[in-house]
Amino acid sequence: MIIVPGSASRKLAESLAKKIDASIAHIEQQRFPDSECYLRIHTDLHGEDVVLVQTAFPDENIIELYLLQHAIRDFKPAKLTTVIPYLGYARQDKKFNPGEALSAQAIIELVQKLSDAVITVDVHSKSILEWFDVHVEEVSGMPPLGSYLREMKTPPEIVIAPDEGAKERAAAVAKTIGCEYDYLQKHRLSGEKVEIKPKELDVSGRTVAIVDDIISTGGTIIEATKQLKKNGAERVYAACTHGIYAKNALPRLQDVCDTIISTDTVERETSVVSVANEIAKKL
Ligand code: R5P
Repeated sequence: MIIVPGSASRKLAESLAKKIDASIAHIEQQRFPDSECYLRIHTDLHGEDVVLVQTAFPDENIIELYLLQHAIRDFKPAKLTTVIPYLGYARQDKKFNPGEALSAQAIIELVQKLSDAVITVDVHSKSILEWFDVHVEEVSGMPPLGSYLREMKTPPEIVIAPDEGAKERAAAVAKTIGCEYDYLQKHRLSGEKVEIKPKELDVSGRTVAIVDDIISTGGTIIEATKQLKKNGAERVYAACTHGIYAKNALPRLQDVCDTIISTDTVERETSVVSVANEIAKKL
């Protein structure tokens, strides 16, 4: 097996290569003055079992992913598996108004076109996996996040999901830690504003972890943390698979949360947990 590392997922590709004892292809990548991407693969991939690792976010990394697939295909590999640690646009999984782009479907069509199989991590809604025509596997960042939280000096005593949709994720983290879990009720007011309904929760004096698939603007986690602290929580940790941190969200999150952790699906300073092991199990 040969791993082709995309520039957005270099560290994860290296961790993965170590786990499965694969070699890493030599890629030359540059940006032209107008920001367009130049790519050249220096390793011969003819007849090889190739695994491309590249997060599909932000837009420029989607183009790089497609160019890498195109260049890989040219070598006529035995198989191309594309690992997409974070599948961008997956949250636009419905047409809310006539004429809207069904972005999740459009991106899936593009990223699978030249692939024999796809592996991705914690897609927002599992229903979009049906849009893949090639074999697709989804792995979860929740068990490794749970392992990290369990080993903290003060591990969480309860895991909270910010909404009912994330309840199963909280359950998976709580199971790894060996503690209880619950969920809040979130109502989205706009792209950036959310309201968390007050709820009686037994968090007084306790250490709480809020878990979610994505932290984007941070609105969800900030509101949930405020609610939990109002209910007397001693410490609130925030844990997510994909740390997007749109609009400089990280410092705002750091103001309210005691710790913020994410996985390496999007490489950030908070990426203290790797999903390499989960992906390796599928290869
Ligand atoms: C949505 O339901 C997701 O699970 C996340 O809760 C959401 O994407 C987080 O977005 P933000 O950080 O902008 O509140």
